[in-house]
Amino acid sequence: MKTRGHALRRAMIPLSLALAVLTTGAAYGGLASPRRGADAEAVAAIPVGTTPDGSSQSCGPAAAARAAAIETFWRVFHDNDYTHIEDAQAALQRGLAANPDDGTLHALLAATHWWHVGESARDPSPDPQVLSRDLPTALQLVEEAVKLDPDDDHLPGFAGTLMVHLGRFAQDAILVANGDRTLAYSVYQFPEFNNFNRWAAHNADPKGSDGFRLALDSLWQAVDACAGETVDRHDPDLTRYMHLRTAVGRKKVCWDENPLAPHGFEGLMASLGNGLVKAGDVDAARIVYRNARLAAHYQDWPYRADLESILGSDLRARAALYDDADPSNDPPVTVRGRSCAYCHATGPER
Ligand code: HEC
Repeated sequence: MKTRGHALRRAMIPLSLALAVLTTGAAYGGLASPRRGADAEAVAAIPVGTTPDGSSQSCGPAAAARAAAIETFWRVFHDNDYTHIEDAQAALQRGLAANPDDGTLHALLAATHWWHVGESARDPSPDPQVLSRDLPTALQLVEEAVKLDPDDDHLPGFAGTLMVHLGRFAQDAILVANGDRTLAYSVYQFPEFNNFNRWAAHNADPKGSDGFRLALDSLWQAVDACAGETVDRHDPDLTRYMHLRTAVGRKKVCWDENPLAPHGFEGLMASLGNGLVKAGDVDAARIVYRNARLAAHYQDWPYRADLESILGSDLRARAALYDDADPSNDPPVTVRGRSCAYCHATGPER
């Protein structure tokens, strides 16, 4: 999920990353505990101090550390509080020290590292050393989370995207291929959600490439899965589908009532609009950007001005920037310099 591509490129990850990638594999082994249930979204919705299954974890210091970690992560993430990522990381580390086999805590710690490097453009004093470790650490933690929570079908999508990004940096074709295979399976499992991950894995690929075609097609497939039918590619006005919006069940990932990603709908429309501009399909892009305004809380979306300014600009000129010989002037296909916050944040940047 994110620009992942663009923001990561901007992070200027040094050669040491490639080495880190190659050594990450060694850290994967062990610890495959068959713990089930308790996925992040369920946990997040549950008051601090309890667990979803009411298990013995529901009291005592370990449970308290776990609950505090989850609460801190979502507070910092929703508050758009990039400068306090380290607080979330510290809380998650404390939670993990007391609950070493907890898949959710591994997944959320991974998310902090991904967010950190993915939005490094907003870091007032970026540390290349730290940034170069973020992605390999995120992948390692997600791999661990997949083992610990095999039933959480968001996680393979995260793992696949991270593998593609890391594989690209390391010029490791096998890792990229493994990532693509993981993504294909994750899409089979959970199309509404993981098609966005597949977009994120390939959205920075060159305009005419198979990778970019797959990325854009994946976003369309996400929208189709949400609409319950194939959406008209020439007139993708979603007004007629808005009655489907829901805050429960698997389809909640599609809509603006998702408690974990309150502006996921706007983020999806901004991404698809940008992808269509890159593909040169400006008329469809304009309709898709306008779809974002259908979100119930569009007025409160912290990134509304970004989308409105693109919509008010010369989209044909924007599309043409992808066609000239200079890749450095290509507009980003995400909200500029952001990877996560435009779907997850409820407030302005801090
Ligand atoms: C296009 C919108 C979008 C973007 C961009 C996005 N997310 Fe999400 N994310 C979602 C949605 C929607 C869900 C909710 C899934 C659900 O309710 O099951 C979600 C769920 C999550 C979860 C919980 C997963 C679970 O297992 O329950 C985490 C963690 C997360 N996102 C982290 C991130 C990070 C880190 C980034 C940036 C690198 C990011 N997201 C970018 C839309 C987005």
